[in-house]
Amino acid sequence: MSQQRVALVTGGTGGIGTAIVRQLAGMGFKVATNYRDEAKANAWRDKLAGEGVPVFIAKGDVSDPESCASMVREIEANVGPVDILVNNAGITRDSTFHKMTYQQWIEVVNTNLNSCFNVTRPVIEGMRARKWGRIVQISSINGQKGQYGQANYAASKAGMHGFTISLAQENARFGITVNTVSPGYVGTDMVMAVPEEVREKIVAQIPLGRLGKPEEIAHAVGFFLDDNASWITGANLAINGGHYMGW
Ligand code: CAA
Repeated sequence: MSQQRVALVTGGTGGIGTAIVRQLAGMGFKVATNYRDEAKANAWRDKLAGEGVPVFIAKGDVSDPESCASMVREIEANVGPVDILVNNAGITRDSTFHKMTYQQWIEVVNTNLNSCFNVTRPVIEGMRARKWGRIVQISSINGQKGQYGQANYAASKAGMHGFTISLAQENARFGITVNTVSPGYVGTDMVMAVPEEVREKIVAQIPLGRLGKPEEIAHAVGFFLDDNASWITGANLAINGGHYMGW
């Protein structure tokens, strides 16, 4: 690799996101992420800089197409054209469907799924022109198996893989691979927000007997970005401790 590749990880300040940022920086990529809360993001960036992990941060709301277009412009002007995109930003608004509000539905779909349009659209033409790109969607076990209380989240996460396999077909001849990583229950703030008694029942269903670690997900993202992974496209890699083994 003659020049350092540029990677954009959305939601990089979050639990799995921070581990992905560290992984990609460790692989020698220049890494950028978006933020909505400037003070929180500055503190996060300074902490990582102190560990020797430089990250460029740009204001951007992944649920808003215009905000994403200006975020990508800012990153490309300051860091360089985006070669690697990890669509990782995601939220939950859990509720059984018969009680779910439109707000709970649309916030999740906008942040988890429509974000794939909003962030990928401004970077895809550059990747096609340069004939190289890597795109990874961070989906979820619950997009594969469904989950009581997550009709909004499961629909958005299943949609992400539909996006992956279409984009993979359209862009293969431009040297762009597009893949999905589907984490199971990882010990982040998002999972720790699930009521304890519910969470304990979920962990009891995991054959490997514990929650995942963010680094274990980040490792899989790194796998798809490795030069030796250049013949893998349209794949979904499930990492869930054996919780769901469908294929
Ligand atoms: N299967 C069958 N029944 C279930 C059930 C399940 N998995 N979960 C709950 N129920 C039942 C309860 O036993 C209860 O039954 P009774 O009324 O007979 O006692 C009933 O459903 C409760 O239903 P309510 O509509 O009253 O729901 P609630 O307001 O109590 O909350 C919930 C339900 C929001 C689904 C709550 O149980 C919850 O938060 N569950 C966890 C959902 C989850 O796994 N979220 C994952 C977040 S992390 C993440 O998303 C990351 C990732 O990618 C993995």
